[in-house]
Amino acid sequence: MQPADENPQNLPDPALESLLGEARLAAQHSYSPYSGFRVGAALRLTTGAVVTGTNVENVSYGLTICAERSALVRAVSQFGPDLRIQAVAVANLNDAPSPPCGACRQMLAEFTLPDAPVVFPSATGVRTLTFSALLPESFSLQDQSRKIV
Ligand code: THU
Repeated sequence: MQPADENPQNLPDPALESLLGEARLAAQHSYSPYSGFRVGAALRLTTGAVVTGTNVENVSYGLTICAERSALVRAVSQFGPDLRIQAVAVANLNDAPSPPCGACRQMLAEFTLPDAPVVFPSATGVRTLTFSALLPESFSLQDQSRKIV
């Protein structure tokens, strides 16, 4: 895996390519009758386990959960709070850019290694950034929240 702040070729390495494939598969389970935007996320943990999630919408709109947070809550439920995320992939079936939203970045911050590559569809094709480049200043409460360094 090649963690880099930015991958100039926009070409994810094979491990990331396979994680992207898992994200695309997860997007097929999307429940998105209101937006029609089908998103999937795949998290690779430091143990090698891969956990996927998809967006689940609600008629109230605001209760919708994104694919990334869906994957995260599933991972914690399955493996417990000490897990660490080594790589993140996001995909959608709409051929549109979909970087993780701000809420998802903040949620991922407590579990994701700063150098973890995050691969997502951008306007210029698939893009890879490190997590710390994606969210340089996450909110934290000194001594109360876990900041991964
Ligand atoms: N969505 C995600 O799943 N991830 C994001 O990071 C941003 C948006 C979903 C939420 C909603 O179901 C649909 O995309 C349209 O906003």
